[in-house]
Amino acid sequence: MTKKKVLVTGGAGYIGAHTAVELFNAGYEPIIIDNLSRSDRTLLDGIAKITGTPPRFYEGDCLDEGFLDNIFKTEKSISCCMHFAAYKSVGESVQEPLAYYENNIGSLISLLKVMKSNNVRDIIFSSSCTVYGQPDNIPVDESAPFKPAESPYGATKQMSERILEDSHKTGFRVISLRYFNPIGAHPSALIGELPVGIPNNLVPYITQTAAGKREKLTIFGNDYNTPDGTNIRDFIHVVDLAIVHVKAMEYLEGLSDPTVYDAFNVGTGQGVSVLELVTQFEKVTGVKLNYTIGARRQGDVEKVYANPAKVNSKLNWKTQYTSAEALQHAWAWENKVK
Ligand code: WQD
Repeated sequence: MTKKKVLVTGGAGYIGAHTAVELFNAGYEPIIIDNLSRSDRTLLDGIAKITGTPPRFYEGDCLDEGFLDNIFKTEKSISCCMHFAAYKSVGESVQEPLAYYENNIGSLISLLKVMKSNNVRDIIFSSSCTVYGQPDNIPVDESAPFKPAESPYGATKQMSERILEDSHKTGFRVISLRYFNPIGAHPSALIGELPVGIPNNLVPYITQTAAGKREKLTIFGNDYNTPDGTNIRDFIHVVDLAIVHVKAMEYLEGLSDPTVYDAFNVGTGQGVSVLELVTQFEKVTGVKLNYTIGARRQGDVEKVYANPAKVNSKLNWKTQYTSAEALQHAWAWENKVK
């Protein structure tokens, strides 16, 4: 029986690559597109080693409607699109707002137009808990309002969800997955996070410091109104996150509705502080981490973690991995990657 084809935009990147593996494991055929602007072929090679099959890959830009249309015409029966392709650095978006709006919003609009002209209606969108800003109620559920975005990156996620909600009635079936903090790597250590340049995110900075690639980790502030003064987050293993994309797609496949718009908070439901995560890393790896306490980082929210009740029940999914396992896998990947 021919496998159902799933388009994975940004599939050479961290979450896209892990999702491509889980699609393969679930019997689907991932069709990866990526412009390699923020990634290279390392994770594509890793996917091939894990699955035993080199993934179908097209190098190109989601802003290019002709490029996208050619793929839909060539692959013929794409059943669903998973849209990961976007810039994702909070700090960089403040420096380069036009690049973020053009890329993140433009790519989504191009993809939706080409999906429509090829009669493909199912899309799983990579959103973020950033859309909430600093929620009034913690843990945060999907009824929380979108506060004014703290960065152009966060604004692009809010706008993208609005574009999807406004356009779904014209013939799309949409699920937005609002990720909390993805961390870790595939247990094989053949794929993982590959930040370009100095990592913005906490865990790759931790592992690079532990590996001696960075002199020390700076913890951005310990004077917040939290038990140990550092920010609290919901750190979710990237493989758990990848699996929920397959669950979301299969949920859509099971619906007869011609149009759908729904959103899910995807997290563990556990709040863990920055300092707790650092301490956990030292415990699980036996590596003493060189860190210092520095000034707060602009735009950081103090505390955010998910109420995952809706995704747990509606998509029949919950996280399986602990943050300790995620840190172990991140460390194994750091020691494998060149
Ligand atoms: C986590 C905590 C920092 C680095 C953002 C986006 C989100 C998602 C993940 C894409 C914060 C602290 C960090 C460091 C530190 N984006 N920190 N020293 O900001 O919660 O979320 O990235 O997938 O959409 O909003 O993640 O990992 O940058 O920071 O102390 O060197 O770690 O202050 O409290 P963040 P992060």
